[in-house]
Amino acid sequence: MSGTIRVDVPLGDRSYPVLVGAGARHELAPVLRESKLTAGAQRAAVVTQPGIGVDVDPGIPFEIFEIPDGEQAKELASIGELCSGFARFGLTRRDVVVGVGGGVVTDVAGFAAAVYHRGVAVVHVATTLLGQIDAAVGGKTGVNLAEGKNLVGAFWQPAAVLCDTEVLDTLPERELRAGLGELAKYHFIGSPAAQRWLAKSGGNLAELPIDERVAACVAIKAEVVSSDETESGRRALLNYGHTLGHALEIAGRFDLRHGEAVAIGLRYAAEVARLLGRIGDDRVAEHELVLDAYGLSWKLPPDVDHDEIIELFGRDKKAADGITFVLDGPDGLEAVPGVDPGVLRSALERM
Ligand code: GLY
Repeated sequence: MSGTIRVDVPLGDRSYPVLVGAGARHELAPVLRESKLTAGAQRAAVVTQPGIGVDVDPGIPFEIFEIPDGEQAKELASIGELCSGFARFGLTRRDVVVGVGGGVVTDVAGFAAAVYHRGVAVVHVATTLLGQIDAAVGGKTGVNLAEGKNLVGAFWQPAAVLCDTEVLDTLPERELRAGLGELAKYHFIGSPAAQRWLAKSGGNLAELPIDERVAACVAIKAEVVSSDETESGRRALLNYGHTLGHALEIAGRFDLRHGEAVAIGLRYAAEVARLLGRIGDDRVAEHELVLDAYGLSWKLPPDVDHDEIIELFGRDKKAADGITFVLDGPDGLEAVPGVDPGVLRSALERM
């Protein structure tokens, strides 16, 4: 399709294309015909939410399976209901699941695909900015438990991802902002792809047209994922800004979308790095500049309970060795274990 940018996620014989552009959803039928994982599919189970409202044509017989709107659909019960529905539909291991929606849909559809018949191919049509630049790409799937977010899941790479930037125009402003914090994160990843795209944009990805901006984030993520698919090391850098971000989301009360929480988390991580002498004032200012470019607030909500936040840091699923933070430094981002809670508290006070 002319005008569509193709970014490959290089994973050997499981490599897959991500197509980015206005109208990319119309590529679904040809992509299903052409991908070796889906070429023989006789039927497609299309998983979506009522609020998404994006129609797709898989080019083969299909049935639509709706999960409820909102993050609460990210629960184990949705997986059971979807798999029962797939079985009633007669979906086999040679068929395909198509997730159409944002991160909730692609996480749930991907996880159902990973476990149904011990694994059936999945293609994502990502309809939100957050889905396009993060959730749909890289094979992380899963659901929340009452005890925490994303505690049950599987790595299950899609056969292809379609990022239709046309449908972003229909997103409410707040929904778009939910992706902007993740977008800001890519400025600091420091990988070769990040450096290339930053150079292309004149130092600020916010200056790129939307298709290229999404493609840049996908390319940066693809490079990290292909070097560490199952997060034994470098992939953790994609969690930059997420430790405080997740804590604020879990604490609730603050009415913050994921990207807004990550934005505060990015500025906070810079403060922690400054207190540890890893970066200077200029780099902290650069964090503020990038967040400002996206119109993201990085102030800590005034009623945040610092004790509660420090306690939530300790419960983070990446807290394998004390409190681990992804921190900026002279050599770029690094996952730093055992960060002193006193420093984390001081950084909260300085926000
Ligand atoms: N969202 C972070 C990752 O995919 O690793």
